[in-house]
Amino acid sequence: MDSSEFQFQFIHLNSVSSTNIYALELLRQKSIKEGTVITANFQEKGKGQLGKVWEADKDKNLQFSVIISPKINIEHQFQLSKLVAISLKKWLDTLAVEGVKIKWPNDILVKGKKIAGVLIENNILKQQITHSVIGIGVNVDQESFGEFDRPATSLRLELQRTFDVKDALNRFLEIFKSYYLSFLKGELNLQDTYLKDLFGYGVPQRYQDAGGDFLGVILGVLPSGKLQVNRNGKLKSYDLKELKFLD
Ligand code: BTN
Repeated sequence: MDSSEFQFQFIHLNSVSSTNIYALELLRQKSIKEGTVITANFQEKGKGQLGKVWEADKDKNLQFSVIISPKINIEHQFQLSKLVAISLKKWLDTLAVEGVKIKWPNDILVKGKKIAGVLIENNILKQQITHSVIGIGVNVDQESFGEFDRPATSLRLELQRTFDVKDALNRFLEIFKSYYLSFLKGELNLQDTYLKDLFGYGVPQRYQDAGGDFLGVILGVLPSGKLQVNRNGKLKSYDLKELKFLD
């Protein structure tokens, strides 16, 4: 596929339960073109990872879902997580945000504070991802946040300026598109690009697993998406529910 064949088309909603729920419902009802982007000023039931709620003040943030049709094997689904994470990282670099890291699997941190979260939901047929709904929330103009495990930040807090949300979204989508098309052509070294900016990669940090707290070092990510951590000299691999970051 070349760049002119992949075009974004937008559905903008003032308020919606969740842009991901809306996208999945659209996919159930009719055939949707790859590149459809659903944006909303407000989500009544924004979904986060692990069944959590994603809260964001009305009109101040970016919350959107992009529908793609990657036709890749389900075994490679973590490639999509990497793709989105490296796109967000590159986009924030172009906005001159400093100290951006990818926190496994695909949160985006700025100097340790969370600025963006990603929830990918796939439709699968015969082991193939027919459609992927990539839901992304970015804190843009919001200045105060509730209490979370990890403090939050926003573009405004980091850069001390306001943003045209639509313009910011378009810039992100162009970066995502270019990475996605190179990925489809097999021209992208996703693993190296992802690991280069992975929070905690190769450095000792504190974690917690079923066995308690420990100082560990992230050594890699398996194709399944499991995180590989050196825990007291032993290589362990974790899925999302099994490991908590304490740093
Ligand atoms: C997380 O960090 O827990 C993931 C948050 C994902 C939030 C986005 S906002 C747009 C899309 N619609 C949703 O309901 N969730 C995602």
